[in-house]
Amino acid sequence: MVAKVIAVMSPKGGVGKTTTSVNIAATLASLGKKTLIIDANLETPHVAIYFGFVGYKYSLEDVFNSSVPVEYAIYKTDVNNLHILPSRVFKGRGDGNARYKIINLFYQIQKVERNYDFIIIDSKPSYDVDFVKAIRGISAIIVSVPEITAMIEARKLNDELRSSGVNVLGLVMNRYDRRIRDRVGEREASEITGISNTWIVPEDKSLYSALKQGLPVVLWDRKLASSRAFFELAGSLVGE
Ligand SMILES: Nc1ncnc2c1ncn2[C@@H]1O[C@H](COP(=O)(O)OP(=O)(O)O)[C@@H](O)[C@H]1O
Ligand SMILES: [Mg+2]
Repeated sequence: MVAKVIAVMSPKGGVGKTTTSVNIAATLASLGKKTLIIDANLETPHVAIYFGFVGYKYSLEDVFNSSVPVEYAIYKTDVNNLHILPSRVFKGRGDGNARYKIINLFYQIQKVERNYDFIIIDSKPSYDVDFVKAIRGISAIIVSVPEITAMIEARKLNDELRSSGVNVLGLVMNRYDRRIRDRVGEREASEITGISNTWIVPEDKSLYSALKQGLPVVLWDRKLASSRAFFELAGSLVGE
């Protein structure tokens, strides 16, 4: 068995990549899938915060900069079946070079991919697909908010991924609020981005509370609209 590797990506910051990554990972784990979440956003890494996970000794920076074996930087979480490979939230001296070495992420993934059903990669906002296209069999999920500008940028990333041979599983339309009249709708989103499969995640203020508790929202309250959306999304990944 080799893990299914999925990168959560968007050219824009603040659209919900990390929220999507941690909630997909937590849901897959709760569905019994052995899951690893990797924080590959070495500039503004927040995955550990979303899990209230502090005090770890090694991080992805140490793997890249100090040749620490990748297994040393992978930790069990309080969630059954879920492991985390964090990046360091507060950088120490010398950590800066790691961001240029992210291109070698595939090499680290190769070492552990047999231990998991799924590997979810959170990423920095970018069109740079070099670090993902090297990973064998990788797929991507693109995250956007329902605004025309964000959709245009999602389109550019989709084109970039496809021309690099990366399979795009779908588009997350995050922070969707039906009451906003001039939001981008589902069909329009597909037309602009060229991505036919969309998952809608509603605007949900409870995400702030979940973050404050150091829990992905799916673990905080499964009944919330956003949690249900993430369960649906993760369920469709398992079904594939
Ligand atoms: N569906 C949502 N409803 C309300 N707030 C959201 C939603 N998704 C994300 N947010 C908030 O938006 C901010 C940015 O989300 P984040 O996942 O960190 O984005 P990114 O990783 O793309 O920078 C966070 O404060 C997060 O809580
Ligand atoms: Mg993020």
